Amino acid sequence: MGEPIVIALDGTSASGKSTNAKLVAKALEYVYVDTGAMYRSLAWHCLEKGVALDNEKAIASLCRRWKAELRNDDGHIRLYVDGYLPEKEIRTAETSAAVPTVAAVPGVRKWMKIKQRDCARFGNLVMEGRDIGSNIFPETDFKYYLNASLDERAKRRAADGVDENLAERDKRDSQRAAAPLMIALGARVIDNSAMTAEETSTLIINEVRKRLEETG
Ligand code: DC
Repeated sequence: MGEPIVIALDGTSASGKSTNAKLVAKALEYVYVDTGAMYRSLAWHCLEKGVALDNEKAIASLCRRWKAELRNDDGHIRLYVDGYLPEKEIRTAETSAAVPTVAAVPGVRKWMKIKQRDCARFGNLVMEGRDIGSNIFPETDFKYYLNASLDERAKRRAADGVDENLAERDKRDSQRAAAPLMIALGARVIDNSAMTAEETSTLIINEVRKRLEETG
């Protein structure tokens, strides 16, 4: 067996990354990885441990020490913390507010890169995030960047019952020094403002299948 295939799915918040990554992973029978959930888990852990969010050193130090372990739960890679899987806790407003600060710490990004690359031991991957094509798996031939208008993304968030300043989040994700959100070299950009998830995922699935057939 050759090297595992990695499909990198990056993009702005509420651009449909999770929905599409899951659909693509299911259709191709690849393993799905939500890297945002990994950053959220660390942000939650920092809050639990009372680490001051303005203390970069303390955040990086906790990240080096935490007992976080990757597990494959039915084709979905999840990060367990001390044997526990935080789920609801990582979606609260408090964790959401803390995660951009935690995700901007260089020591955290270094740790996450090692852990995220390690996911390839589980097989072919669909990995969603902000820097997968540009920084985590820059060598992959399968890079996609999803986006949609601010209006459309705000509507999608509102439909999920979340009121969030997306423009502010985009700015923070794009302007941080460490591994900012960007369109990776060679990525196919898909603006799905007027597309359904079905349409977006089908486009990706068909393209990946075709290219894999061409390369044998
Ligand atoms: O995709 P999400 O909303 O769950 O991401 C949560 C936060 O983590 C968001 O502020 C962006 C950040 N993030 C990141 O910096 N790099 C990633 N690969 C994934 C998420």
